[in-house]
Amino acid sequence: MVLDDPGGIARLDTAGMLGLIGRAGSMASEGWHLAADLAPPATPPAAVVVCGMGGSGIAGEVLQALLADQIPVPVLSVKDERIPSSVDSRTWFFACSYSGETEETLAAYEQACRRRAQVVAVTSGGRLADLADRRGHPVVRVPAGLPPRAALPYLLVPMVRLVARAGGGAEAEEGMRRQVDEAARLLDDLTARWGPAVPLSGNPAKALAVALEGAIPVVYAGSAAMAPAAQRWKTQFNENSKVPAAWNAFPELTHNEIVGWEGVTGGAPPFHVVFLRDREDGAANARRLEAARERLVGRARGAMEVWSHGVGRLARMLSLILLGDYASAYLAVLRRVDPTPIEAIRAIKQHLARP
Ligand code: PA5
Repeated sequence: MVLDDPGGIARLDTAGMLGLIGRAGSMASEGWHLAADLAPPATPPAAVVVCGMGGSGIAGEVLQALLADQIPVPVLSVKDERIPSSVDSRTWFFACSYSGETEETLAAYEQACRRRAQVVAVTSGGRLADLADRRGHPVVRVPAGLPPRAALPYLLVPMVRLVARAGGGAEAEEGMRRQVDEAARLLDDLTARWGPAVPLSGNPAKALAVALEGAIPVVYAGSAAMAPAAQRWKTQFNENSKVPAAWNAFPELTHNEIVGWEGVTGGAPPFHVVFLRDREDGAANARRLEAARERLVGRARGAMEVWSHGVGRLARMLSLILLGDYASAYLAVLRRVDPTPIEAIRAIKQHLARP
């Protein structure tokens, strides 16, 4: 079995994606310190907006899910080159682009500057860092040389720290530090249980990949709070495993998507559903999930559920994300593809860069 053959994995995973996934815990700890010396915007925010695409943009989704009901101002994730008209001088605007070269994020950054928003750049360099340095905007400079999607803790944790501090002062920041510490320890612990050295027989991440081989993964979060984890699973199956995938979240999916399963008949592609469960899902969502699961019988090739680990919401979210990251990289190995290259994204960016 290739998943238990270190040499076979190394031959396929040439850029070491599995090793990077295993560094999530240390990246979370380091990420906390990346914002340590940063002078945050001078005035408290009336709103927080995070703009970013793809592997950087997911940090905004996670931030929104973590903090929207914890701080007294709106938190918004924007994945577009146009920013909401509400962005003004009282908005904290995070322009989050790992490379610092993403067209949409740069365009949004320019608009935020014109609106005199309190801008913070989160990036490893590129044009975004240059512009922000020149204009005197704070820059969270994350370590360079990684695939953006492998740098999620570096991008997320400094923003979480700054926003927690802005929303609730030193006490809230201290509470968030404890959450980050817990998440970092948990991610290290889970890496020891789900990493490539652990054989398939005792490794739930490898078992997931085996179950999903040949199927289209459909990932459903048990609540809106964990929706970014489902979204991340989907995009990691796309980019790491190179397969189509879908995601949605309860309760919304019981108001539309569930009807679509009625069209899944004999000749349809083999969909395999993974429910991402969390202790904050709530009783009503748990009942919705059971009702939905019954409707999948005979339509989905399979349905399984996995549970978050940890206590704090950050740890629980990142534990689900880690499992999806591993499962998607193992699925790549099973499919004999290298998890790191993303040729289609590169080609489209190159095409758009042409005059
Ligand atoms: O996974 C990826 O590499 C992409 O989704 C990128 O994150 C996306 O294209 C945006 O680039 P960046 O993260 O550098 O802003």
